[in-house]
Amino acid sequence: MAIRKIITPPDPLLKKPSMLVAEVDDTIRELVRDMFETMYDAPGIGLAAVQVGVPLSVIVMDTSGEGEEPRPLALINPEVVWTSDEQREYEEGCLSVPEVYDTVVRPAEVRVRYLDLDGKEQERTFSGMDATCVQHEIDHTKGILFIDHLGRLKRERYLKKVIKKAKQAQEA
Ligand code: NI
Repeated sequence: MAIRKIITPPDPLLKKPSMLVAEVDDTIRELVRDMFETMYDAPGIGLAAVQVGVPLSVIVMDTSGEGEEPRPLALINPEVVWTSDEQREYEEGCLSVPEVYDTVVRPAEVRVRYLDLDGKEQERTFSGMDATCVQHEIDHTKGILFIDHLGRLKRERYLKKVIKKAKQAQEA
């Protein structure tokens, strides 16, 4: 297992749609193990493979709170097949957009079809924080960041902030 480096803007990979996984093999399972390790280390509640520089449609998440049993979930080739009319707002953040938080409105419930780590097709309905998290991560597989859901001015301001911080860190 290894902690992998999380990419940030202006890395062009973050804007690129990920490729579907053709076969869930040991390489994918190793990628998933590394993604969990990277996500827990950060710490975060979700991570997409593209965020560690691998443009494959793979996401991991664990929205358990402190002191709760962990609920790790890996989804390969996830696809939203149903969304509720009801919406939910949440102040989101992203490991690829450090120190930026803003409110995003998304469907309150979604049904997602995906492959599990054995390559079996599964469907699961997500609600509450899980719904927000799974939609945020599926967005990453399409080259979409949570700040892309905000207005253009806000998005540009946040991008400038992140890029400036990364430059400062490099120079330090
Ligand atoms: Ni994110």
